[in-house]
Amino acid sequence: MSERSERTGPASAVSIDIREVGPRDGLQPEAPVPVAARVELVSTLVAAGVATIEVAAFVSPKAVPAMAGAGEVMAALGPAPDGVRYVALVPNAKGAELALAAGLSALTLTVSASEAYSQRNVRMSVEESLGQVAAVRAVVGPSVALDVVVSCAFGSPYEGEMAPGEVAALGARARSSGADALTYADTTGMATPRRVAELVAETGPAVGLHLHDTRGTALVNAYAAMSLGVRRFDTAVGGLGGSPFAAGAGGNLATEDLVHLCDDLGVATGISLEGVLAASAQVADLVGHVVPSRVAAAGPRSRLHPA
Ligand code: COA
Ligand code: ZN
Repeated sequence: MSERSERTGPASAVSIDIREVGPRDGLQPEAPVPVAARVELVSTLVAAGVATIEVAAFVSPKAVPAMAGAGEVMAALGPAPDGVRYVALVPNAKGAELALAAGLSALTLTVSASEAYSQRNVRMSVEESLGQVAAVRAVVGPSVALDVVVSCAFGSPYEGEMAPGEVAALGARARSSGADALTYADTTGMATPRRVAELVAETGPAVGLHLHDTRGTALVNAYAAMSLGVRRFDTAVGGLGGSPFAAGAGGNLATEDLVHLCDDLGVATGISLEGVLAASAQVADLVGHVVPSRVAAAGPRSRLHPA
């Protein structure tokens, strides 16, 4: 029986790749969590089948106290298990040097589409920040994977609308400066399915999306993007996260919420829902409050009707 052989729309996706950003984006606005607990969270995520995990940010500890100790996190983690890739966020060449020394071979570099957010986040203009793409590439050489994450890609809390054509042009410049891949980030939850479609029409579907649920649209945006052929998504366990430098930031799309949807659609994620729910309970303990994920709160529908 191939009951799904005639799937169309979002369910026509056979699989998607999830990059788990909980240990970085998820924890960055929280009170600092000790290194050992951050490492344990990564282990739980690996056990859940998560293949790509943003484990740290090599940023100024003055700017983001919760991300202090990135080198210690890497040392305690040791080499990634087979089939798993650790990623770290960097804002500049100095961060790339530190990340390389810590053993990373995949980086995300943040560049903003919003001038005002760029100044707040990395204390650089958009042009200066874009200049870091080539600077980081020069530091890390050709073999390190470099994904430039274009933040405020669907609007800025400071400047409002962002023209999709201009956002895509910024991404194209990042690519010609040395990025291997691009991810467009909805830093403050301003995207809607219509706006996702408008941006993907400019960029094509071979991009990642990093969605925040500030206005309750993250999951529907992911669903819309899947139907447009997008196959890479950033999510954070529990739905934690948000930039401390963006007014009105809310949590990321929750990993368990996207996995729950994909399980029902028959879209493979490689991630065990029960496994990620264990990580979600763990991270709620670490931060000391309830997490925003809806599936974590309600439990998955499969628990109500066990096979
Ligand atoms: N990691 C650690 N320390 C760094 C660093 C990095 N990537 N880049 C610079 N620093 C240090 C410098 O060595 C310097 O240290 P010192 O005071 O001991 O001499 C200090 O930070 C200031 O350096 P400067 O280049 O003037 O940085 P800045 O104060 O202009 O801040 C950033 C710029 C990019 C370092 C800072 O804004 C930052 O880390 N932002 C990241 C924000 C973030 O993670 N946002 C999350 C959402 S994407
Ligand atoms: Zn984010």
